[in-house]
Amino acid sequence: MTDADEDIVLELRDLYVGYYKDLNILQDLNVKARKGQITAILGANGVGKSTALKAVFGFLRPNGGQVLLEGEDIIDVPTHQRILKGLAYIPQQPGIFKDMSVEENLELGGWTFKRDKKQIAQKMEANYERFPVLKEKRKQITGELSGGQQRMVEISRTLMAEPRMLLVDEPTAGLSKMLSEEVYDMLIMLTEEENLTILLVDQEIRHALHISDYVYVLELGRNKFEGPASDFDDLEKAFWVA
Ligand SMILES: Nc1ncnc2c1ncn2[C@@H]1O[C@H](COP(=O)(O)OP(=O)(O)OP(=O)(O)O)[C@@H](O)[C@H]1O
Ligand SMILES: [Mg+2]
Repeated sequence: MTDADEDIVLELRDLYVGYYKDLNILQDLNVKARKGQITAILGANGVGKSTALKAVFGFLRPNGGQVLLEGEDIIDVPTHQRILKGLAYIPQQPGIFKDMSVEENLELGGWTFKRDKKQIAQKMEANYERFPVLKEKRKQITGELSGGQQRMVEISRTLMAEPRMLLVDEPTAGLSKMLSEEVYDMLIMLTEEENLTILLVDQEIRHALHISDYVYVLELGRNKFEGPASDFDDLEKAFWVA
């Protein structure tokens, strides 16, 4: 193992995934996410970006290959245990409870230690420090918050479980440019200040390139191109069909 390998928090190795046994959407996919970095998976609609994240979280069982979390193949580990191992997932479709208050949504994120009220309170306070606006609005019904603030509630709720590896699918879909920037700033803050590792799926190519360290481009469920985001600008025209 080289030094560089020790930085790999999550690896998708030779992965084949489909919704039906004999029809693989992802074919021989290889992705590595390194500690404290944002790694992006980009590609056109329907190439299999969300499918890849679902397989990592355990919602879909791969037909072949490995999902390695800190070197351990977790394919046979059920989703709730993946969460206990430090994995978290923010799906493409927002999953907050809009009829509940901000505070109640955050409490739900602490289900792994729900009997420990003190720990819940500490984690909530940590979230309010990250996102002070949520403290102000903690008693408010989440559905009454702006789209960006609702995304903040969702991300905060996920952080209650103190993940080390965060899977994020299209975090700014449907948000204005300004709110999108808030969400991207939030992701950068989590990697830079809290050393979280993020695997990001995004359609906002320019923004994703801007905040990511390393980028994978998929085509028809396969690796098409990969490289450091900083290399990508020049290569964009060659590899990306806008
Ligand atoms: N639940 C499902 N059952 C069967 N096929 C599915 C299901 N979800 C997705 N697919 C198919 O898998 C392929 C990849 O879908 P996926 O959602 O991973 O794409 P994506 O890259 O995330 O696209 P987008 O950018 O539009 O979100 C598509 O052809 C889609 O029709
Ligand atoms: Mg998707």
